[in-house]
Amino acid sequence: MKIKFLGHAAFLLSGEKTVLIDPFLSGNPSASVGPKDLPHIDMVLVTHGHGDHLGDAVQIAKGNDAVFVAMHEIALYAKAQGVVFIEPMNIGGTIEVQGVSITMTNALHSSDFEGGSAHAAGFVIGMDGHRVYHAGDTGVFYDMNLIRELYVPEVALLPIGSRYTMGIREAVKAVEFIQPQIVIPMHYGTTPLIQRDPQEFKEAVKGRAHVVVLKPGESFTL
Ligand code: NI
Ligand code: MN
Repeated sequence: MKIKFLGHAAFLLSGEKTVLIDPFLSGNPSASVGPKDLPHIDMVLVTHGHGDHLGDAVQIAKGNDAVFVAMHEIALYAKAQGVVFIEPMNIGGTIEVQGVSITMTNALHSSDFEGGSAHAAGFVIGMDGHRVYHAGDTGVFYDMNLIRELYVPEVALLPIGSRYTMGIREAVKAVEFIQPQIVIPMHYGTTPLIQRDPQEFKEAVKGRAHVVVLKPGESFTL
């Protein structure tokens, strides 16, 4: 599986299928690509309704006939916007979409959007025998231990930008709870409000996990 960082919290997982997560591309100063530069997308996952996550998801799902996976209320909003294939779900649930396993996890965060409000979430995605945890926007929470116990993610994509999410100190604690092999930091550097040094995070994690710092457009292959 190839994990491509598109900037902010947007990732493209490529394996048996192409899984796009939180595609905030238009208007994102750190985005490496625009919506039109993407390969064919099989499914779009949205962690919560904030604009820097919902982003271009509706438009991309429509343009690719992709399956739109999100919290119930956000998925219904997407359908109302013309998305044909939706998979509404909620925290604790697992679904299988075209052979890809998707579990929705909790996130400690607010989430209002144009269509209403919906609890924020994260995802554990299982594809090609690998498991990747995208934490969404969240503070650290003790039940990240449950995510490790139940789903054993090899890779964790964790926010480190602080202010709206975990900062470096909290993300290191999250690594202790989740115990992934690989950690890729996200949700930092996009705007002046969330400037953080990923190398400082890497040093703070030390031997707990291998920290892979990706610039927008760069990939890591499992
Ligand atoms: Ni948010
Ligand atoms: Mn955000």
